[in-house]
Amino acid sequence: MQWGLHNRLARIIRPSDHRCVMLAVDHGYFLGPTRKLEDARSTITPLLPYADCLMVTRGLVRTCVNPDTSTAIMLRVSGGPSVVGPSLADEAITTAFEDALRINAAGVTASIFVGTPYERQTVAGLAELVNQGERYGMPVMAVTAVGKELESRTARFLGLCSRMAAEMGAHMVKTYYCEDFGKVVESCPVPIVIAGGPKLDTERDVFEMVANAVALGAVGCDMGRNIWQHDHPIPMITAIRKIVHDGYDAKDAHDHFTTACNARHVAQRGATPRTTKGRTAKAATRKGRPSRT
Ligand code: 5RP
Repeated sequence: MQWGLHNRLARIIRPSDHRCVMLAVDHGYFLGPTRKLEDARSTITPLLPYADCLMVTRGLVRTCVNPDTSTAIMLRVSGGPSVVGPSLADEAITTAFEDALRINAAGVTASIFVGTPYERQTVAGLAELVNQGERYGMPVMAVTAVGKELESRTARFLGLCSRMAAEMGAHMVKTYYCEDFGKVVESCPVPIVIAGGPKLDTERDVFEMVANAVALGAVGCDMGRNIWQHDHPIPMITAIRKIVHDGYDAKDAHDHFTTACNARHVAQRGATPRTTKGRTAKAATRKGRPSRT
């Protein structure tokens, strides 16, 4: 692998443990000002030090990210359709490669929509991006998008998409966690990170998903809503870091999360303390179960 590409990849996936925690904040490119991203800068800024890499569009980089940051940038360079349009799959490459270089991105990323009328267009877009990435020493991460069809997150489908992306030359793949996720990893010759998907019911569900994904061979996660739509985003991302970089299991990560929430509560005097079961102390008391905090 050429030096520049290797070096950029090392800014995304930490060489010491071959793992990474990416923070995805690119949702506005098709969702608009979704909840907690209305003022994206105030959501991103406190989380930035805890992310190895930030996934954003060029518009948010310029307007909402302090250029002094040492966090690597994964630049989203595909887009076009919106959540209210006829098809989320009809994406094109939207950002000039020179812009990614000017931004000093560590990588660029685009979605592929396999199984849709736009698979040829999006897969060809990815392949062209890889051509440019090889020319300039820039890693390319493919996102195996499912649009609104969340039920298509099966190992068979995601395995197909991930493998296609790798065969097109993608240096990394972002896909979804699913049943038999190990099969997706085994048949994909490049590193895989998982997305979080829509917000899950409990923190424990998030930690279980990340821990299982890493145990099955993912190098980490590229997560958005389950972190920044949470009432306690910093304890969420630090607990996820513990799983990805320090080998915590879901239970230990949850204990870390609870301790971090309560430490912040003491520091802030006002937020609601949490029990180790992920409920607020107030909610636990309401249900007649005393808080363990
Ligand atoms: C959309 C994306 C998002 O960045 C991705 O879905 C990750 O965010 P979340 O964890 O909220 O799903 O790539 O195609």
